[in-house]
Amino acid sequence: MRASQIFNSTIGKKLILGITGLMWAGFVVIHLLENLLLLNPDPDPFNKWAHTLISLGPAIYFAELILVVSLLFHIFYAIRVTLENRKARAVRYRKSVTKGGASRRGIATASMIYTGLLLFIFIIIHLQNFKYGTVYMYTVDGQQIRDLYRTVHEYFSDPLNVTYYIVMMILLGLHLSHGVWSATQSLGLNGPRFTPFMTKLGTAVAAIVAIGFVGIPLFLLMNGGA
Ligand code: HEM
Repeated sequence: MRASQIFNSTIGKKLILGITGLMWAGFVVIHLLENLLLLNPDPDPFNKWAHTLISLGPAIYFAELILVVSLLFHIFYAIRVTLENRKARAVRYRKSVTKGGASRRGIATASMIYTGLLLFIFIIIHLQNFKYGTVYMYTVDGQQIRDLYRTVHEYFSDPLNVTYYIVMMILLGLHLSHGVWSATQSLGLNGPRFTPFMTKLGTAVAAIVAIGFVGIPLFLLMNGGA
């Protein structure tokens, strides 16, 4: 099979969507673990960790490139698959107008494109606020490094910003709860034993990520910011 055939086949498109989605799910779980350092009253461990990552130079740029490319592929194939599914459904509906409303699975799938596009906008705003946000510098162990901890704590001292994060993190949980399950099905991890397990795994990953990312801004707000 040629590469172009794989990229254009139904299973190929779903595989790309699933693999790139799981790559982002993996990143999000690691990112949550890193961000737990923000709960420490001492800013140094978080700032030193962020500084160590930046000091990796080309390795971190390469990891960022993989993230960006996988996100672009994920969005491109998500839009393609959604449009094709809609077209196919329109044909089916014309044949059987008397059937009842959309199934539960259908509704979950339909919301993926909207939660996904909102999360894409979230990521752009997120990078603007933190990665490219206010830069404070301070000295640790005789070295000038960025006080990213202060930037984040200041941002989450505003209840409006915290509310926005809570809403977006609930959407992230919804997206992951269906997405992780769906990706495992595309990868062939299905069957009478696997499918119920994957459903539970998807729900567990989504719940941990959503609760963790909702908890961090809430904790910072309640502890009075920087
Ligand atoms: C409470 C929630 C979150 C906090 C406090 C947080 C914090 C941060 C901070 C401080 C940075 C800048 C890191 C640096 O410049 O060294 C960052 C980068 C980033 N965040 Fe988050 N984040 C959160 C949620 C998320 C979520 C849910 C996603 C994805 C859906 C995400 C995706 C990213 C990405 C892609 C980067 C850029 C990473 C890089 O360029 O190396 N973040 N985040």
